[in-house]
Amino acid sequence: MRLKDCHNFHDFRRLARRRLPGPVFNYIDGGADDEVTLRRNTSAFDRVDLVPNVLRGVADVDLSVTVMGQKLALPFYLSPTALQRLFHPQGERATAASAARLGTMFGVSSLGTVSMEELAQRYPQTPQVYQFYFHRDRGLNRAMMQKAKDSGIKVMMLTVDSITGGNRERDLRTGFSIPFRLTLSGLLQFAVKPMWGINYVTHEKFSLPQLDAHIDMKGDSLTIGRYFTEMLDPSMTWDDVAAMVADWGGPFCLKGVMSVEDARRAADIGCGGIVLSNHGGRQLDGSRTAFDQLEAVVQAVGDRLDVMIDGGIQRGTHVLKALSLGAKAVGLGRAYLFPLAVAGQRGIDRAMDLLVAEITRDMKLMGARSIGDLGRANVVAR
Ligand code: LAC
Repeated sequence: MRLKDCHNFHDFRRLARRRLPGPVFNYIDGGADDEVTLRRNTSAFDRVDLVPNVLRGVADVDLSVTVMGQKLALPFYLSPTALQRLFHPQGERATAASAARLGTMFGVSSLGTVSMEELAQRYPQTPQVYQFYFHRDRGLNRAMMQKAKDSGIKVMMLTVDSITGGNRERDLRTGFSIPFRLTLSGLLQFAVKPMWGINYVTHEKFSLPQLDAHIDMKGDSLTIGRYFTEMLDPSMTWDDVAAMVADWGGPFCLKGVMSVEDARRAADIGCGGIVLSNHGGRQLDGSRTAFDQLEAVVQAVGDRLDVMIDGGIQRGTHVLKALSLGAKAVGLGRAYLFPLAVAGQRGIDRAMDLLVAEITRDMKLMGARSIGDLGRANVVAR
């Protein structure tokens, strides 16, 4: 099986599983506790049916949207995700290049392996989100915000669902941790995927440029769960975020809001957007899915800020269902990470081109010429 044999999410996932060492694959693939929310994130889309219109003159379809003041050529963006250098030597450089080629937004994570300033300099025309974790170290928080401003980053995205680490039992079993090191036992684990190992040691050294200046990563390695629990500030409140929104000055987005009440508070403190998200099912297992929560949140605050969702999106029809219920755009995670692991930028390009073709075909079949043509009447609950 090769890249050209990949036609959908499942094909890329299968091929990524073959190429990645088990601990790395399971870090991407896994969720918290019993992974109930992880599974529901995708099956939730089956809860509603699409109701198409016909005879609408759909020779040309416009997929562009405007989100938080950013014009995107497509109604999806590449969500900020951590540690991409581990998945492929091109890491975030591949993700940024692919987003720029598509004309859509991408995110750089606090736990990114390429610096936000390098990518902002390289792709000044491409809307870029900086994903921020609120650390116990307030100096680090201030420095990160300043660096994002200086780099010309457009949108600040604060993740608010990770105040303590989710229980990711796959990672506990494999020992997956950061900073990533090849210990002797690690080497043995990784020896079964020699190509990955050769690529890993022959390319640029793994680093976390957003954090390296502030956190001494030379001590123990931490599981991602322990990183959240030990480094992030669980005392964070709405007042802290209101001060950050005022300080940032530009579009500020909260990622991981789920309740209608919190959505209202986000609007009250001046957020330009929220991403309904359960962190890919990796934090609170049993949490409701973003898709299931979408309609109520859009009804409550859709006229005050832009509502987005992420989690479980694998198909063009999933994107259309979310847009019909009022999402302004949707975020992808594993849907581009498995392709990244398979073939770097070529992998992401192929997966995203397939998704664009799917969305375009589905728009035509729905009788929609532009995203604004989709609305509440296009979906019915089963
Ligand atoms: C994760 C964090 C790092 O889910 O976003 O692993």
